[in-house]
Amino acid sequence: MTIKKNNIEILNVSADRNLVDANLIQSDSDNFNDLNLRPQKLEDYIGQNEVKKNLSYLIKSAKIRNENLDHILLYGAPGLGKTTLANIIAVEMGVNVRVTSGPAIEKQGDIASIITNLKENDILFIDEIHRLKPAIEEILYSAMEDFAIDLIIGKGPGAKSMRLKLPRFTLIGATTKISQISSPLRDRFGAMYKLMFYDIKDINKIVQRSASLLNIKITSEASLLIAHSSRSTPRIANRLLKRVRDFAIVNKFDEIDQNHTKKCLELLGIDEIGLDDSDRHILSSIIEKFNGGPVGLSTISAITNEEEETIEEVYEPYLMQLGLMERTPRGRIITSKAYQHLGINLIKNEK
Ligand SMILES: Nc1ncnc2c1ncn2[C@@H]1O[C@H](COP(=O)(O)OP(=O)(O)O)[C@@H](O)[C@H]1O
Ligand SMILES: [Mg+2]
Repeated sequence: MTIKKNNIEILNVSADRNLVDANLIQSDSDNFNDLNLRPQKLEDYIGQNEVKKNLSYLIKSAKIRNENLDHILLYGAPGLGKTTLANIIAVEMGVNVRVTSGPAIEKQGDIASIITNLKENDILFIDEIHRLKPAIEEILYSAMEDFAIDLIIGKGPGAKSMRLKLPRFTLIGATTKISQISSPLRDRFGAMYKLMFYDIKDINKIVQRSASLLNIKITSEASLLIAHSSRSTPRIANRLLKRVRDFAIVNKFDEIDQNHTKKCLELLGIDEIGLDDSDRHILSSIIEKFNGGPVGLSTISAITNEEEETIEEVYEPYLMQLGLMERTPRGRIITSKAYQHLGINLIKNEK
């Protein structure tokens, strides 16, 4: 649906409520279209230089030894490029990758059949690996360490254990919650890499790269504006770029400039530092109802009508990264910077 306002056609953007939630990949055409946006080679993967440097040694060494790569654990917030990196590793190694996720593996038999079907040096990518059931994890221990699994055949006193040899494969695990991974599993990874939020320069490069892949003409000021609003996260940057592109197509703009981008972001309710209505609602509710805190997560959830998990995973990390909120043992506190950003007078609220 489109509406007309000041002679500018407006896409029905209000229905697109979850623009800043990098967790949501099925919410729009992102997932499919991102197939073209995902870099395929390490050299096209922007930023995360430390991780790239270490990985390239790991890959080169495995190639020289002509052996399988060490098991790798990738962790970091949603949308920072874990899945992309796993694919790149497979491409660089020239091996097949089998993709699954923690919650998708229900039974021990599921994981056994996946692993036994791998070929030498293949990669098994398990997304959301923190959500694996303990019984499944147990199978992985021997698979990762000894490249073997123990199968129980039969039931009751007559049951026999049989050891099955596996090809030397590589497990790549990805998680947003490293603390929820049991230490026996964590210890079996030869390498662990943390993906960081991107700086503006790198996010801007990602916006420009995506624009050129999608054949979008955009001024450098406009791409910088998108970069600033993208919560330092590539998935959100790409999503905003596509919404701005839609806005330009509908309004028949040949090139996206700063002005169009500003208008579009405004319609989406996203401000110049990337906060959306929900972020601002969380901040202002704590200020209005609790004088800026400290206040507990469950209370924030109750006063804002947002789920605790969403607050913790989607909103808080970015609010804290911007220094608008702090976590203390007594609860969450809103900082003076947030008061300034929202234009609320701090003096009245100071204790
Ligand atoms: N370093 C990067 N350089 C360029 N594009 C990136 C980079 N990291 C992520 N992206 C883009 O962001 C999207 C989300 O990344 P993804 O790997 O799916 O994140 P995650 O698995 O960590 O949630 C990808 O489709 C890709 O287009
Ligand atoms: Mg992913």
